[in-house]
Amino acid sequence: TPQKNPAAAGKNDRFSSAGFILAAIGSSVGLGNMWKFPYITGKYGGAAFFLLFIVCLIVIGLPVLLAELAIGRAGRGSAATSFVKAGGSKIFGRLGLLQIIAPFLILTFYVIVAGWTLHYAVQSFSGHLYSNTDFSGQFSGFIGGYMPIVWQVIAIAITGFVVVKGISGGIEKFNKILIPGMIILLIVMMIRAVTLPGAGEGVAFFLKPDFSKLTTESALVALGHAFFSLSLGMGILLTYGAYVDKRQSLGAATIAIGAGDLIYAFVAGLIIFPTTASFGIASDSGPSLVFIALPAAFSAMPFGAFFGGIFFILLAIAALTSAVSLLEVPVSFAMDRWGWSRMKSVLIISVLVLLVGLPSALSFGIVPAFTHMGSKNFFDWLDFIASNILLPVGGLITTLFAGYFWKNAAEAAGLKSAWFRVWLFTLRYIAPILVVLVLLHTTGVIRF
Ligand code: PHE
Repeated sequence: TPQKNPAAAGKNDRFSSAGFILAAIGSSVGLGNMWKFPYITGKYGGAAFFLLFIVCLIVIGLPVLLAELAIGRAGRGSAATSFVKAGGSKIFGRLGLLQIIAPFLILTFYVIVAGWTLHYAVQSFSGHLYSNTDFSGQFSGFIGGYMPIVWQVIAIAITGFVVVKGISGGIEKFNKILIPGMIILLIVMMIRAVTLPGAGEGVAFFLKPDFSKLTTESALVALGHAFFSLSLGMGILLTYGAYVDKRQSLGAATIAIGAGDLIYAFVAGLIIFPTTASFGIASDSGPSLVFIALPAAFSAMPFGAFFGGIFFILLAIAALTSAVSLLEVPVSFAMDRWGWSRMKSVLIISVLVLLVGLPSALSFGIVPAFTHMGSKNFFDWLDFIASNILLPVGGLITTLFAGYFWKNAAEAAGLKSAWFRVWLFTLRYIAPILVVLVLLHTTGVIRF
């Protein structure tokens, strides 16, 4: 029976209004913005892709984001239980379980990459990173060893330590300190990047659209990334919504969160592309871009160890504020559904995150069984299943619920009638169709 625990999700611990927006921005700004966004932008058409991403974010992303927040606040439960408490049928409560499992799975590998960024920050500040310029060898040597497990444990410990302190005393405080710090570091890095010799070429690549490069595929990638980047379909905003005061305007919060995510991606582009252009690095060099290509650039610039260290701290902050939001989802579920205390939930789930994550941490060479599993390693399989299947399916459940099965949608979202009709139309027709297309495309069912 739900609600055994008086301290459970949404019961009395609340976000302040600014704290909520910062925490939601902290969740949406993550490795996706600095690590994934630049290389897919490089690959799928630079500025033209960026414009497409903006359109997807505004037209599809924001309406779904608002739906998640509204369901969470109306239900005041966890991602799964809120569907039922907000007035849905039991079936949605069951389907909602997917939005508990998905963030758990993502968290298992997300903290590993968060650990890598911490390791790289230390290595950069200490100068060790630059003592040998074979950056590719250094990276594969590091991720192919046992050290990442140590950093994984550290990253989980930090995440658990924040979540155990609850919403206002933990998650909100953490984001209130780190997000302003992150903005300062981001500006420092942007100024450094755009003043590098030859930076202009990178800025032009990022800001001058060439629409001939756009394909149906880039459109689907842009939409998928808008979902990932806003942390949709993962129960996160459903969970955070449960802790939002009922007087707060969800429409305004949605716009603030979307703007925060977009501005961060924009500035990240102004850091990565000028830097890669200045040092003649291919901007589409893939996921290894930030761990292999950028250290090469840092090693060649004055005070590079310092700027490199700052860059990896930025990545670490972005990753940890997202990790905190991922952990809160299963934690709030355990509290709400099983009546566990916050402490017990955080401890048990963190240990599980560590254990389930071990095969991912060991998938880069050291354990062949995890390294070679068909076309991918364990880590990439988990990422693929979570990001490309569970996340769109989760988003679909939310849109269908809010669009077709939820009687109190208008009131809960707090929209005026004209906006409500636009919102409902998007949730009913546009978002589900496009999300299904993304799903079919990323799973290889349809090809272009
Ligand atoms: N939005 C985060 C990012 O851009 C990642 C994330 C995805 C976090 C899904 C939680 C859920 O990196």
